[in-house]
Amino acid sequence: MRLEGKVIIVTGASRYIGQAMAVRLAQEGAKVVAADIRDCAETVELVQAQSADVLSIQVDVTDEAQTLEMARKTVERFGRIDCLVNNAGIYDGLISKPILDVDMEVWDQVFRVNVKGIFLCSRAVFPAMKEQGGGKIINTGSAIWLSGSAGIPHYVASKAAVTGLSRTLAKELGLYNITVNTLAPGGTRSGAVVNRDDAPISIAQAGRAIDRLEVPDDLVGTLVFLASDDSSFITGQMIVVDGGVSLH
Ligand SMILES: NC(=O)c1ccc[n+]([C@@H]2O[C@H](COP(=O)([O-])OP(=O)(O)OC[C@H]3O[C@@H](n4cnc5c(N)ncnc54)[C@H](O)[C@@H]3O)[C@@H](O)[C@H]2O)c1
Repeated sequence: MRLEGKVIIVTGASRYIGQAMAVRLAQEGAKVVAADIRDCAETVELVQAQSADVLSIQVDVTDEAQTLEMARKTVERFGRIDCLVNNAGIYDGLISKPILDVDMEVWDQVFRVNVKGIFLCSRAVFPAMKEQGGGKIINTGSAIWLSGSAGIPHYVASKAAVTGLSRTLAKELGLYNITVNTLAPGGTRSGAVVNRDDAPISIAQAGRAIDRLEVPDDLVGTLVFLASDDSSFITGQMIVVDGGVSLH
């Protein structure tokens, strides 16, 4: 097991990609904090089935007080925070629209969750990681901004921002032995789809070198690597896991 005893928070852990991450981290021996604005009961059950310790925390990652509480409860229960996986995001339910019809309320909410949420959660765990002499932050980005995608400018721009934010946090937090990297999926079968004339673009992307759909489990091996000591000298990087759509 590559993550024996490590305490790892996964945000957006209630389903799909975050749930697959939580389960695989547990299989590698981690103690998992399943954090989400939604109920994480199903994830808790799946993690416990791996005989792993799990703590479920309801958190809105856009609310600073709640992110601080998430960090506090994690330390209270497990004594430390080795890794934070900032996976919560808004993608599911976005509607592709022409530029003049893009709803600016939706724009703000996408940025609040996808960008500010990552910043707040990272800031919340920083004191614990600093005090314990290091840690790892892994942000779920997306490969989508490498090629662009018409109709969802808020989402694409927010995921570019995730990589920029990861890089700048990596530069600042390296001093404290904290690594910060971006894990960038391609269009992944996850239930999360963008409504574009009823064609879900999340699973309709063509051009993969590997000719099959991406599933959440395709991401977890890279996640384990980034969470483990094997990647201790890798920081500020974006690893694209998309079957060879975007050659970054
Ligand atoms: N599915 C894809 O094709 C794809 C591709 C690239 C990147 N991603 C990213 O992967 C991540 C997971 O997405 P998914 O496909 O599993 O979709 P999803 O919508 O099922 O997962 C997002 C999770 O974030 C949670 N969440 C949303 N707002 C929150 C908030 N304010 N506070 C706390 N939790 C909140 C949701 O409840 C959900 O559990 C997201 O960051 C998404 O942008 C997905």
